[in-house]
Amino acid sequence: MRIVLVGPPGAGKGTQAAFLAKNLSIPHISTGDLFRANISQQTELGKLAKSYMDAGNLVPDEVTIGMAKDRMAQADAENGFLLDGFPRNVSQAEALDEALKADGQKLDAVLDLEVPEDEVVKRIAGRRICRNDSSHVFHVTYSPPKQQDVCDVCGGELYQRGDDKEETVRKRLDVYHRETEPIIDHYKAQGLVVTISALGKVDEVTQRAMSALQGESA
Ligand code: AP5
Ligand code: MG
Repeated sequence: MRIVLVGPPGAGKGTQAAFLAKNLSIPHISTGDLFRANISQQTELGKLAKSYMDAGNLVPDEVTIGMAKDRMAQADAENGFLLDGFPRNVSQAEALDEALKADGQKLDAVLDLEVPEDEVVKRIAGRRICRNDSSHVFHVTYSPPKQQDVCDVCGGELYQRGDDKEETVRKRLDVYHRETEPIIDHYKAQGLVVTISALGKVDEVTQRAMSALQGESA
Protein backbone atom coordinates (compact mmCIF):
# COMPACT_ATOMS: atom_id res chain seq x y z
CA MET A 1 0.00 0.00 0.00
CA ARG A 2 1.03 3.60 -0.62
CA ILE A 3 -0.30 5.78 2.16
CA VAL A 4 0.06 9.42 3.19
CA LEU A 5 -0.49 10.34 6.85
CA VAL A 6 -1.64 13.88 7.48
CA GLY A 7 -2.50 15.75 10.66
CA PRO A 8 -1.33 18.69 12.76
CA PRO A 9 1.99 18.70 14.65
CA GLY A 10 1.63 16.43 17.66
CA ALA A 11 -1.37 14.52 16.24
CA GLY A 12 0.51 11.23 16.63
CA LYS A 13 1.60 10.68 13.02
CA GLY A 14 5.02 9.33 13.97
CA THR A 15 3.60 7.24 16.83
CA GLN A 16 0.94 5.66 14.61
CA ALA A 17 3.27 5.29 11.63
CA ALA A 18 5.55 3.00 13.63
CA PHE A 19 2.69 0.55 14.30
CA LEU A 20 0.96 0.87 10.93
CA ALA A 21 4.21 0.38 9.00
CA LYS A 22 4.87 -2.80 10.99
CA ASN A 23 1.31 -4.13 10.52
CA LEU A 24 1.36 -3.39 6.79
CA SER A 25 5.02 -4.40 6.20
CA ILE A 26 5.93 -1.13 4.52
CA PRO A 27 8.62 1.41 5.47
CA HIS A 28 7.77 4.50 7.52
CA ILE A 29 9.18 7.51 5.68
CA SER A 30 9.18 10.73 7.72
CA THR A 31 10.71 13.83 6.16
CA GLY A 32 11.02 15.34 9.66
CA ASP A 33 13.07 12.30 10.80
CA LEU A 34 15.21 12.47 7.63
CA PHE A 35 15.95 16.15 8.32
CA ARG A 36 16.76 15.43 12.00
CA ALA A 37 19.15 12.62 10.96
CA ASN A 38 20.90 15.11 8.63
CA ILE A 39 21.09 17.65 11.45
CA SER A 40 22.73 15.17 13.82
CA GLN A 41 25.19 14.11 11.09
CA GLN A 42 25.89 17.83 10.45
CA THR A 43 25.40 17.57 6.68
CA GLU A 44 24.90 20.65 4.48
CA LEU A 45 21.25 19.62 4.07
CA GLY A 46 20.95 19.37 7.85
CA LYS A 47 22.39 22.87 8.37
CA LEU A 48 19.96 24.33 5.84
CA ALA A 49 16.95 22.42 7.23
CA LYS A 50 17.72 23.40 10.84
CA SER A 51 17.36 27.12 10.14
CA TYR A 52 13.82 26.58 8.84
CA MET A 53 12.78 23.95 11.39
CA ASP A 54 13.92 26.02 14.39
CA ALA A 55 11.67 28.83 13.16
CA GLY A 56 8.71 26.49 12.61
CA ASN A 57 8.74 27.08 8.84
CA LEU A 58 8.72 24.57 6.01
CA VAL A 59 12.07 23.61 4.49
CA PRO A 60 12.04 24.76 0.82
CA ASP A 61 10.44 22.42 -1.72
CA GLU A 62 13.62 22.31 -3.86
CA VAL A 63 15.44 20.27 -1.21
CA THR A 64 12.47 18.49 0.39
CA ILE A 65 10.98 16.98 -2.75
CA GLY A 66 14.34 15.60 -3.95
CA MET A 67 15.08 14.11 -0.53
CA ALA A 68 11.65 12.45 -0.31
CA LYS A 69 11.87 11.05 -3.85
CA ASP A 70 15.36 9.62 -3.18
CA ARG A 71 14.04 7.85 -0.10
CA MET A 72 10.98 6.49 -1.93
CA ALA A 73 13.26 5.16 -4.68
CA GLN A 74 15.06 2.84 -2.24
CA ALA A 75 14.48 -0.90 -2.57
CA ASP A 76 12.45 -1.32 0.62
CA ALA A 77 9.80 1.10 -0.71
CA GLU A 78 9.27 -0.73 -3.98
CA ASN A 79 5.96 -2.26 -2.91
CA GLY A 80 4.66 0.57 -0.78
CA PHE A 81 5.37 3.12 1.92
CA LEU A 82 3.78 5.18 4.64
CA LEU A 83 4.63 8.85 4.22
CA ASP A 84 4.62 10.96 7.41
CA GLY A 85 5.03 14.73 7.03
CA PHE A 86 5.25 14.63 3.24
CA PRO A 87 3.62 16.08 1.20
CA ARG A 88 3.11 19.18 3.29
CA ASN A 89 1.83 21.70 0.74
CA VAL A 90 -0.02 21.51 -2.57
CA SER A 91 3.11 21.80 -4.71
CA GLN A 92 4.70 18.83 -2.88
CA ALA A 93 1.43 16.88 -3.39
CA GLU A 94 1.52 17.66 -7.11
CA ALA A 95 5.19 16.61 -7.33
CA LEU A 96 4.33 13.32 -5.58
CA ASP A 97 1.36 12.71 -7.92
CA GLU A 98 3.64 13.24 -10.93
CA ALA A 99 6.44 11.05 -9.61
CA LEU A 100 4.02 8.19 -8.88
CA LYS A 101 2.31 8.56 -12.25
CA ALA A 102 5.68 8.43 -14.04
CA ASP A 103 6.27 5.05 -12.34
CA GLY A 104 2.75 3.78 -13.14
CA GLN A 105 1.80 3.93 -9.45
CA LYS A 106 -0.77 5.73 -7.33
CA LEU A 107 -1.64 6.37 -3.69
CA ASP A 108 -4.11 4.01 -2.01
CA ALA A 109 -5.19 6.31 0.83
CA VAL A 110 -4.57 9.56 2.67
CA LEU A 111 -5.19 9.01 6.38
CA ASP A 112 -6.18 12.25 8.08
CA LEU A 113 -5.68 12.26 11.88
CA GLU A 114 -8.03 14.66 13.62
CA VAL A 115 -7.12 15.98 17.08
CA PRO A 116 -8.34 19.14 18.85
CA GLU A 117 -5.70 21.83 19.29
CA ASP A 118 -5.65 21.71 23.12
CA GLU A 119 -4.80 17.98 23.00
CA VAL A 120 -2.06 18.56 20.43
CA VAL A 121 -0.48 21.15 22.71
CA LYS A 122 -0.47 18.67 25.65
CA ARG A 123 1.01 15.92 23.48
CA ILE A 124 3.81 18.15 22.21
CA ALA A 125 4.60 19.64 25.64
CA GLY A 126 5.36 16.18 27.07
CA ARG A 127 7.03 14.61 24.03
CA ARG A 128 10.56 13.24 24.38
CA ILE A 129 12.49 11.71 21.47
CA CYS A 130 15.67 9.68 21.17
CA ARG A 131 19.04 11.22 20.21
CA ASN A 132 19.95 8.12 18.17
CA ASP A 133 16.74 7.97 16.14
CA SER A 134 13.99 10.59 16.25
CA SER A 135 11.36 8.02 15.26
CA HIS A 136 11.62 6.60 18.82
CA VAL A 137 8.93 8.77 20.45
CA PHE A 138 7.75 8.92 24.10
CA HIS A 139 5.60 11.14 26.30
CA VAL A 140 6.35 11.92 29.92
CA THR A 141 2.76 11.07 30.97
CA TYR A 142 1.01 9.26 28.09
CA SER A 143 3.84 6.94 26.92
CA PRO A 144 6.58 7.16 29.55
CA PRO A 145 9.82 5.24 28.98
CA LYS A 146 10.57 2.46 31.50
CA GLN A 147 13.56 4.45 32.76
CA GLN A 148 13.39 8.24 32.86
CA ASP A 149 15.13 9.93 29.88
CA VAL A 150 16.31 6.59 28.42
CA CYS A 151 14.95 5.18 25.14
CA ASP A 152 13.21 1.78 25.59
CA VAL A 153 14.13 0.80 22.03
CA CYS A 154 17.88 1.46 21.92
CA GLY A 155 19.00 2.91 25.26
CA GLY A 156 19.68 6.34 23.72
CA GLU A 157 19.21 9.59 25.64
CA LEU A 158 15.75 11.16 25.41
CA TYR A 159 15.41 14.91 24.86
CA GLN A 160 12.84 17.55 23.96
CA ARG A 161 12.82 18.66 20.31
CA GLY A 162 14.11 22.21 19.74
CA ASP A 163 10.97 23.10 17.74
CA ASP A 164 8.66 21.95 20.57
CA LYS A 165 8.98 25.32 22.38
CA GLU A 166 5.59 26.96 22.85
CA GLU A 167 6.09 29.85 20.41
CA THR A 168 7.48 27.57 17.69
CA VAL A 169 4.58 25.15 18.16
CA ARG A 170 2.13 28.03 17.61
CA LYS A 171 3.99 28.91 14.39
CA ARG A 172 3.96 25.28 13.21
CA LEU A 173 0.20 25.08 13.81
CA ASP A 174 -0.31 28.27 11.72
CA VAL A 175 1.84 26.82 8.94
CA TYR A 176 -0.17 23.57 9.13
CA HIS A 177 -3.52 25.37 8.71
CA ARG A 178 -2.24 27.64 5.94
CA GLU A 179 -0.01 25.34 3.89
CA THR A 180 -0.75 21.72 4.75
CA GLU A 181 -4.53 21.55 5.26
CA PRO A 182 -5.18 22.44 1.59
CA ILE A 183 -3.66 19.08 0.57
CA ILE A 184 -6.68 17.40 2.19
CA ASP A 185 -8.98 19.02 -0.42
CA HIS A 186 -6.44 18.16 -3.13
CA TYR A 187 -6.72 14.48 -2.17
CA LYS A 188 -10.49 14.61 -1.48
CA ALA A 189 -10.88 15.51 -5.14
CA GLN A 190 -9.12 12.18 -5.88
CA GLY A 191 -11.39 10.30 -3.44
CA LEU A 192 -8.44 9.22 -1.29
CA VAL A 193 -9.09 10.79 2.12
CA VAL A 194 -10.13 8.77 5.18
CA THR A 195 -10.51 10.84 8.33
CA ILE A 196 -10.33 9.32 11.81
CA SER A 197 -10.26 10.72 15.31
CA ALA A 198 -6.78 10.38 16.83
CA LEU A 199 -8.13 10.78 20.38
CA GLY A 200 -7.87 7.87 22.78
CA LYS A 201 -5.13 5.39 23.60
CA VAL A 202 -2.38 4.77 21.07
CA ASP A 203 -3.52 1.19 20.36
CA GLU A 204 -7.16 2.28 19.98
CA VAL A 205 -6.12 4.83 17.37
CA THR A 206 -4.04 2.16 15.56
CA GLN A 207 -7.11 -0.13 15.47
CA ARG A 208 -9.26 2.69 14.12
CA ALA A 209 -6.64 3.49 11.48
CA MET A 210 -6.31 -0.15 10.39
CA SER A 211 -10.11 -0.49 10.09
CA ALA A 212 -10.32 2.72 8.09
CA LEU A 213 -7.52 1.60 5.77
CA GLN A 214 -9.23 -1.74 5.26
CA GLY A 215 -12.36 0.14 4.17
CA GLU A 216 -14.41 -0.77 7.23
CA SER A 217 -16.30 1.79 9.27
CA ALA A 218 -13.90 3.19 11.84
P1 AP5 B 1 7.83 16.79 11.62
O1 AP5 B 1 8.89 16.09 12.32
O2 AP5 B 1 7.05 16.12 10.55
O3 AP5 B 1 6.84 17.40 12.71
P2 AP5 B 1 5.26 17.66 12.72
O4 AP5 B 1 4.48 17.42 11.48
O5 AP5 B 1 5.14 19.00 13.31
O6 AP5 B 1 4.70 16.53 13.54
P3 AP5 B 1 5.26 16.04 14.88
O7 AP5 B 1 6.41 15.11 14.63
O8 AP5 B 1 5.47 17.22 15.78
O9 AP5 B 1 4.01 15.25 15.47
P4 AP5 B 1 3.48 13.79 15.20
O10 AP5 B 1 2.13 13.92 14.58
O11 AP5 B 1 4.48 12.94 14.52
O12 AP5 B 1 3.26 13.33 16.71
P5 AP5 B 1 4.01 12.20 17.59
O13 AP5 B 1 3.69 10.85 17.08
O14 AP5 B 1 5.43 12.57 17.80
O15 AP5 B 1 8.41 18.14 10.98
C1 AP5 B 1 9.25 18.99 11.72
C2 AP5 B 1 9.74 20.13 10.83
O16 AP5 B 1 10.51 19.58 9.73
C3 AP5 B 1 8.66 20.97 10.15
O17 AP5 B 1 8.20 22.00 11.01
C4 AP5 B 1 9.43 21.50 8.94
O18 AP5 B 1 10.28 22.56 9.29
C5 AP5 B 1 10.30 20.31 8.53
N1 AP5 B 1 9.64 19.44 7.55
C6 AP5 B 1 9.29 18.13 7.72
N2 AP5 B 1 8.70 17.66 6.61
C7 AP5 B 1 8.68 18.69 5.72
C8 AP5 B 1 8.17 18.83 4.39
N3 AP5 B 1 7.55 17.82 3.76
N4 AP5 B 1 8.31 20.03 3.79
C9 AP5 B 1 8.93 21.05 4.38
N5 AP5 B 1 9.40 21.00 5.64
C10 AP5 B 1 9.28 19.82 6.30
O19 AP5 B 1 3.18 12.38 18.96
C11 AP5 B 1 3.30 13.56 19.74
C12 AP5 B 1 3.33 13.18 21.24
O20 AP5 B 1 2.06 12.66 21.60
C13 AP5 B 1 4.36 12.10 21.60
O21 AP5 B 1 4.94 12.43 22.82
C14 AP5 B 1 3.52 10.82 21.70
O22 AP5 B 1 4.08 9.91 22.66
C15 AP5 B 1 2.18 11.36 22.17
N6 AP5 B 1 1.04 10.59 21.66
C16 AP5 B 1 0.89 10.08 20.41
N7 AP5 B 1 -0.31 9.46 20.29
C17 AP5 B 1 -0.93 9.60 21.50
C18 AP5 B 1 -2.21 9.18 22.03
N8 AP5 B 1 -3.07 8.48 21.29
N9 AP5 B 1 -2.50 9.52 23.30
C19 AP5 B 1 -1.62 10.21 24.07
N10 AP5 B 1 -0.41 10.63 23.64
C20 AP5 B 1 -0.07 10.33 22.36
MG1 MG C 1 6.46 13.22 13.88
